[in-house]
Amino acid sequence: MATGGFFITFEGMDGSGKTTQMHRLAARLRAMGRTVLETVEPGGPPIAQKIRRILLDSANQELSATTEILLYFASRAQNVDQWIAPALQRGEIVLCDRFTDSSLVYQGCGRGLGAGTVEALDRIACRGIKPHLTLLVDVDAEDSLARARARNAAEPHCETRMDDQSIEFHRKVYDAYHALAAAEPDRVKLVNGRTDMDSIEREVWGIVSVYV
Ligand code: TYD
Repeated sequence: MATGGFFITFEGMDGSGKTTQMHRLAARLRAMGRTVLETVEPGGPPIAQKIRRILLDSANQELSATTEILLYFASRAQNVDQWIAPALQRGEIVLCDRFTDSSLVYQGCGRGLGAGTVEALDRIACRGIKPHLTLLVDVDAEDSLARARARNAAEPHCETRMDDQSIEFHRKVYDAYHALAAAEPDRVKLVNGRTDMDSIEREVWGIVSVYV
């Protein structure tokens, strides 16, 4: 699909601070006069937000791995069709908090469903739309889980099903993210997430400013 816009995704372990970084990047780009669409996965448009509730509800412990991956891609298809593809066609910059790479590392590797399944579903849901640039905010699996659990304890809510997974699951996800960065160095840029928000922001801008 031909698009005139620029598509940037943020990836990283839970609690890596990537959401804050995405908002800061959006504010900077808007201050420069650029039109920016910010979205999130799972979520974005109202229908996809409803799918998000099913996916992250800690009560849904019986959700099977197959149902889980199909729902992540159902949410993504709605986000692509309703928000992302139209914005790219209008020539806007699209920032998305997680995208297909999350399905690759969490479902393809973490759940063991395999990269082939993820690629097949991506072809259906995303219709050729791929991020031009992916910022992988890198934190250690142990720190990530500790931060996510501390956040959940401080602000009790029910969207914790993925944070409830074991440390072994999160280590698999960490390794898969690093394998992805090594396999696609032109697209996937590692950002050091172990430092303060301002330093991370400077590193993100150092990468993004080359492209926009
Ligand atoms: P969220 O509360 O948005 O966490 P974060 O702030 O870390 O992004 O929860 C999203 C969770 O869903 C997160 O644990 C990663 C997981 N996920 C997948 O397993 N597969 C996917 O395709 C996506 C988009 C997210």
